[in-house]
Amino acid sequence: MIILGIDTSCDDTSAGVVVDGRSVLSNVVHSQVEVHHPYGGVVPELASREHTRNIMPVVEASLLKAGIQLNDLDGISVTVGPGLVGALLVGLYYAKGLAYVLNIPLTGVNHLEGHILSIFLEEDPPPFPFVALTVSGGHTSIYHVEGHGRYTLMGQTLDDAAGEAFDKVAKLSGLGYPGGVAIEKMAQNGACDKIPFPRAYMEKDSLDFSFSGLKTAVALYMKQWREDREPYEQETTLADIAASFQESVVDVLVHKLMTARRRTDAPSVVMAGGVACNSRLREKLSAAARDEGVRVYFPRPEYCTDNGAMIAAAGYYRLLRGEIAGMTADVTSRFPIESLSPQN
Ligand code: KG4
Ligand code: ZN
Repeated sequence: MIILGIDTSCDDTSAGVVVDGRSVLSNVVHSQVEVHHPYGGVVPELASREHTRNIMPVVEASLLKAGIQLNDLDGISVTVGPGLVGALLVGLYYAKGLAYVLNIPLTGVNHLEGHILSIFLEEDPPPFPFVALTVSGGHTSIYHVEGHGRYTLMGQTLDDAAGEAFDKVAKLSGLGYPGGVAIEKMAQNGACDKIPFPRAYMEKDSLDFSFSGLKTAVALYMKQWREDREPYEQETTLADIAASFQESVVDVLVHKLMTARRRTDAPSVVMAGGVACNSRLREKLSAAARDEGVRVYFPRPEYCTDNGAMIAAAGYYRLLRGEIAGMTADVTSRFPIESLSPQN
């Protein structure tokens, strides 16, 4: 089954063509970074307008790269939430129009389900069950994944997402938006044990996250570091701050994911979403998994950040189950993934 997947949930317009939920024929992403960069974050109305401008060329490019025609498509899969409502609507209405004209089934996908199932785009995907961490600019959550469409939420952030913390610290450091990649690069020249930034492990058994305290601690440290350069200037660099901040986020993410894994006794862990591109995070999670004899899986960076191929993969399994969206389908800014499980 050849599926076209479309994602316009935030600031990337993406479309991908995937065969049987596994084999990627194309994955085209049009980034809006330059549009939002001057504002230091995503401006929802500008994002919707950009999607409107780019959706057609992006879909056309995805078909061209895949070497197929519109008539070759067997179905269309589109993100319907969570995300920015105005942005999601552009993707959904474009997908509806296309599905109607081509007379092929349309299915609506949860963006986070797409991130989790992006691992199935890789050569050697994990067997079920596994524990998955979705870590991006909008989400930081841990799920017990027992099958396609069977997800149990184990923990989530109570305030900022990990990617949001990276973006805010980058902004404070004058590194611009989006900040994850810039912080990672800066951190390579710093000492990660230089500043003992807090690690919010929460109550003993909690698998929830909180990154707002860390963000405030970095902001306060930086303010003092800038004002009072005498005692700090010689010893601490911006790279040390970036590395110490990154280490704090990475330690908490790895600790919680591995704790969740032990609780379910699943044989493997999966990590996906934009922050999962971070090499320090990949390195430390791999080491922790090795120590416990657990297999760790992460998609290549192209499939970690927002993309249409992962939506096509998730849509394939929905279409197999006959979950077809009608022409009245709508989008939703909040969309708990647990609601997808059959028992709910
Ligand atoms: O999954 P994604 O593309 O979009 C959302 O669904 O949010 O994730 C984007 C987030 C941004 O916050 C970005 O700063 C972060 O992922 N990110 C990174 C890295 N690459 C992207 N964070 C840390 N290290 C990276 N290498
Ligand atoms: Zn995402």
